Amino acid sequence: MTSAELRQSFLEFFRAKGHTIVPSSSLLPESPGLLFTNAGMNQFVPIFLNEVPCPYIPPRAADTQKCIRAGGKHNDLEDVGLDTYHHTFFEMLGNWSFGDYFKQEAIAWAWELVVGRWNFPPARLYATVYQPGPGDPAEFDQEARNAWAALFSAAGLDPDVHIVGGNKKDNFWMMGETGPCGPCSELHVDLTPHGDTRGTLVNAGDSRCIEIWNLVFIQFNANPDGSFRPLPARHVDTGMGFERACSIIQCTKNFTDFSGTISNYETDVFAPIFRKLETLSGQTYTSTLPRHGLLGLTERERKDVAFRVIADHIRTLSLSIADGILPGNDGRNYVLRRILRRAILWSRALDLREPFFFQLAAVLADTMGDTFPELRQQLPTIERVLKAEEENFNRTLDKGIELFNQFLLSSHNPASTQPQIVPGPIAFKLYDTYGFPLDMTELMARERGLSVDIEGFDTLMREQQDRSRAAQKKEIIGVSETDDSIPTATFVGYDQTDALIQVATYKIDFGAKPDNPVLARLYFSPTPFYAEMGGQLGDTGYLEFAGRRIEIIDTRKAGRGIAHLTPDVDLLDAIEFPVRAVINPVRRARIEAHHSATHLLHWALREVLGPTVGQKGSYVGPDRLRFDFSHLEALKPDQLARVESLINQQIAASFSVTWSERPYAEVKGDPSILQFFGDKYGETVRVVEIGDFS
Ligand code: SER
Repeated sequence: MTSAELRQSFLEFFRAKGHTIVPSSSLLPESPGLLFTNAGMNQFVPIFLNEVPCPYIPPRAADTQKCIRAGGKHNDLEDVGLDTYHHTFFEMLGNWSFGDYFKQEAIAWAWELVVGRWNFPPARLYATVYQPGPGDPAEFDQEARNAWAALFSAAGLDPDVHIVGGNKKDNFWMMGETGPCGPCSELHVDLTPHGDTRGTLVNAGDSRCIEIWNLVFIQFNANPDGSFRPLPARHVDTGMGFERACSIIQCTKNFTDFSGTISNYETDVFAPIFRKLETLSGQTYTSTLPRHGLLGLTERERKDVAFRVIADHIRTLSLSIADGILPGNDGRNYVLRRILRRAILWSRALDLREPFFFQLAAVLADTMGDTFPELRQQLPTIERVLKAEEENFNRTLDKGIELFNQFLLSSHNPASTQPQIVPGPIAFKLYDTYGFPLDMTELMARERGLSVDIEGFDTLMREQQDRSRAAQKKEIIGVSETDDSIPTATFVGYDQTDALIQVATYKIDFGAKPDNPVLARLYFSPTPFYAEMGGQLGDTGYLEFAGRRIEIIDTRKAGRGIAHLTPDVDLLDAIEFPVRAVINPVRRARIEAHHSATHLLHWALREVLGPTVGQKGSYVGPDRLRFDFSHLEALKPDQLARVESLINQQIAASFSVTWSERPYAEVKGDPSILQFFGDKYGETVRVVEIGDFS
């Protein structure tokens, strides 16, 4: 079978068993705790948790899912290139039951497909079942064991040999620290020439016996406090390593020859990437594997590691960019940049110096574009982003390598038997000046049997962060949200510009520097003053009593209270209640107009550029507005013109703005109401509508 045939065969098999074939979800996960989509089940979490009803009839689904495991709970980055079967990006074939069939069918169908249809020799198969240790959740998975035992026995094999117990680490699957989870049963394949290891290599980190399919029986939700809550229904979540299944079938020529290398890289998934890389570099891939990890690589081995790393990483980068996740400075974006820089570092082993990586993306669009059409649609963007990243890093990479080599030369002491350590300041300079991610410096060090002073690096990093934070510090220091003495404030400024107050408390801020103005924070409730939030500036105005005024120059949130800032500290003791609190209505009206205009701009950007335009920040003041957003490239003049014209049309139409307060539970997930993943909403939300379009 070609890889395309294998994928199709899997999906057809489950279609015939009543499963709806669904598209892969994006690599950008819905779950805020995940860096990347890391399993086929991610997109189904709300169904497992009973938050949304299952849309499939019968309640079964199957797909091939794009996954990245390079950070967080599941991270395979360090192994990539050094072995035959770990990847940062891979496809996971999966089938799901949502409160429908359970262990019996899941196991029987796995056997039917793998043994009955694809002809895996049963004598080479091993099934693991959950066997908890002390303190682990749930009990021994007797039901799964019985199901496997019946199948192995019927094939004339001893269940005691072919079924292996596994602890929580290997046989209790969790997508992260929290979320749906449960005991699992994995299918492993013995790839040794004679297939006679009798289960001794299962879960031993040995590439001659690898897991191909994980059958998870989802029964619990893991809570943040470490406890496990049983779910109302029981579900099945399976995941098969697509590239692994391909490699076993293709490299053994349909299980007839186990004498050669069985490697994911020796399949039609990777061959076209290697061919292109050979053309670009003038080098040949020869399939050697390092004998001792990174240490003491021969020149030949180093080149082959480079081939594998680059071929793996181009898939991760291209598919991420196609889903709108770009290399960048923090979070998942920095993970991508790190991976890309690793690929470029390894490219030096193939004597590649000019940007080349971006040219591999077209190979993927060709070979994977039928399954993941976004690769074709986004190809120009992928190429442009990769090329720019390469050009950028190429400017400093060689200088950084030189610095590293100088350090090696200057510190080399043949008489010393101490293991050498790359000092923190060197690692930090490589990071800060030359853009070397720390894990890349560690990789270079490990290759030479060295380690890196991570603590020293961290200290320098912290010092730098403190310096930049100090430089940004606002003059007025925020109030701790946990300060219980601050009274809770009710905001009445949606329809009032002033309010009468009977009581107020205040705190005085003494400036950090002697020449700072001394300010006081006044707390009272109700208040018509809007506190700075979501980019919108706080209100200004005054408090009036007995013919005197206290000026309010800014308003800030302070926990559940609202702090009104005043420089008129001397007047505070003279206050006589009741006091009238009045905002500056002209300034507020201008801010409100800019706030509405911000929404018009966001709406128009989505109309012109698509729904992936994400808000990244904003400034809404009396003088102007600024709206930061993410998009793959700069706007073209005609797009800009369309955005302008759409906004101006809506302003000319002079729609009214209406609003209502609704329970969040009622509007959550409603596609007609813009709401942003990762934003925090309270129990009651204010839903604002401009005309009927925003
Ligand atoms: N969620 C399980 C895994 O990722 C099975 O799909 O291994």
